[in-house]
Amino acid sequence: MDLKEKTIVITGAAQGLGAEMAREIAQQGANLALVDLDKSKLDETVRACSSAGVRAEGYAVDVTNESAVETLFASVKSDFRSVDGLINNAGITNDGLLVKGKNGKVSKKMALPDFRKVIDVDMVAVFLCGREAAVQMIEGGHGGAIINISSISRAGNIGQSNYTAAKAGVAAMTVTWAKELARYGIRAAGIAPGFCETRMVSAIPSDIQDRITATIPARRFGALMRSRARHVSFWKTIISMGAFWKLMVAFGSDGHRVFLSFFLTIRADHFKGGGSGGH
Ligand SMILES: NC(=O)c1ccc[n+]([C@@H]2O[C@H](COP(=O)([O-])OP(=O)(O)OC[C@H]3O[C@@H](n4cnc5c(N)ncnc54)[C@H](O)[C@@H]3O)[C@@H](O)[C@H]2O)c1
Repeated sequence: MDLKEKTIVITGAAQGLGAEMAREIAQQGANLALVDLDKSKLDETVRACSSAGVRAEGYAVDVTNESAVETLFASVKSDFRSVDGLINNAGITNDGLLVKGKNGKVSKKMALPDFRKVIDVDMVAVFLCGREAAVQMIEGGHGGAIINISSISRAGNIGQSNYTAAKAGVAAMTVTWAKELARYGIRAAGIAPGFCETRMVSAIPSDIQDRITATIPARRFGALMRSRARHVSFWKTIISMGAFWKLMVAFGSDGHRVFLSFFLTIRADHFKGGGSGGH
């Protein structure tokens, strides 16, 4: 898919991975509908994308709200005339152990609202945005692509019952959509990043961060902000035409029975060799 003049919706675009993807995709010539709760930070991303010469609009929407999401996608369609791609990126964490026990006594349990909130943002919102994007793509008669951001944590991770369940759900939903939506020319794919230096990861206590980096071959998180050049080349590999959208087109064109669904498990060692090391 040539991204020039296409309209891509990115959720969670105010900061972190969403903002970086938006900037990179703007460089590829796509118009951007950028969505987040945080309007003032979102405006910064909108400005950065607009300065690349594309059209970018910000939408302050809570992606867990069904009617707001329905209105959002109808507005994007009317503002840009088509919805060609969606990156389901908005996400949160709210870590805690399922139960915390000592000497046969449980002192703490994960509260149901803490579980549900993460499921709502990280999985239910992906469902809502994916569904509404598919509606616009089918009714527009032009197909499109939906990319869901899962996580390396989808396989299970201590202290993340809520997050891992949501991200595993996203992985399974992506495969389902790849199978269901191929008949409409809509390709679905997922990315499951390893740990990257964003606000979400900086919220992890430093002793736990040390334990995590000890398990990563490069012994550090993926560096988003420290080396823009390295970061851009990373996202180019993942998102830009050469490796990602074109791959989807290639798979998608391979007959009606071929459904593209692949997960890239990206660990920080993928950044190796692109820069100074940054340990
Ligand atoms: N950073 C990592 O190491 C990492 C690793 C694996 C997966 N991920 C996933 O990548 C995605 C982006 O992560 P990040 O690190 O950039 O996070 P981040 O916290 O920096 O940014 C997330 C954005 O989502 C927005 N958001 C949260 N709830 C929302 C809602 N209800 N409606 C609209 N917007 C909402 C936030 O305002 C924020 O701007 C998430 O889905 C995350 O789970 C991140």
